[in-house]
Amino acid sequence: MLQKIEATTKFIQQRTKFSAKTAVILGSGLGRFADQIDAEHVLPYHEIPNFPVSTVEGHSGELIFGTFRGKPIIAMKGRFHFYEGYPMEQVTFPIRVFKQLGVQNLLVSNAAGGINLNFRVGDVMMITDHINLFGTNPLIGKNHQELGPRFPDMSKAYHPELCAIARDYAKIANILLHEGTYVGLTGPSFETPAEYRFLNIIGGDTVGMSTVPEVIVANHMGMRVFGMSVVTNNGLAIPEGGNQHAEVLDVAAVAAPKLEAIFGKLIESIG
Ligand code: HPA
Repeated sequence: MLQKIEATTKFIQQRTKFSAKTAVILGSGLGRFADQIDAEHVLPYHEIPNFPVSTVEGHSGELIFGTFRGKPIIAMKGRFHFYEGYPMEQVTFPIRVFKQLGVQNLLVSNAAGGINLNFRVGDVMMITDHINLFGTNPLIGKNHQELGPRFPDMSKAYHPELCAIARDYAKIANILLHEGTYVGLTGPSFETPAEYRFLNIIGGDTVGMSTVPEVIVANHMGMRVFGMSVVTNNGLAIPEGGNQHAEVLDVAAVAAPKLEAIFGKLIESIG
């Protein structure tokens, strides 16, 4: 794994001299954020050695190096999901490379089901904690001490200072920003009604099929993480026609400006 990380990092550094302290992962339907980046260099995933290729509709798959409101960032447009069949090591590989490229802050976003009765479709939630229900962990296997410790602390997996910046800004900007716990599980099937109820009972506020692996790996390497869910459907009131991926993408796109405003503020503050 170490050799792969080094090879991919070298490849990217040969393609672009661009460096950034902050990386952003754009979740399902949230790729629009990328249009606001003044791109200096774009690398499609299929050109990057050791990067898997994203297969899901709504995830186009490229790394964008550029500035957002004048601050340098690296953006992942499209991410890799465990349900696509990639091993955890591949799902989280870009995060390993980001760290090697000098990235210190990771902003992650996802489309998620709401399992908190106070949440409405189209709302956004700042992730302050998560529950890993993937049934596995990206750190299983040999630990590379040069990347991080065998038993990393996860007590502040979502960085309190970054959360504080977002909280203060949302108040000033009059954006309703919920806070809560994201439950990550494999998918790709949506949850049954009983599963949504269960996730609510165990303390979840949103549920989705991503984010947790990347956040664990980022914490392993000592990166600062900020996360946001866009509530694209209500798990406790499933529509008559059932949950549909197309609707998830539509709602995510509509809610995207709120996410952009908050990510934008964070990038301005920490970049
Ligand atoms: N469950 C899991 N993942 C999701 C959901 C959901 O209800 N909505 C968007 N991503």
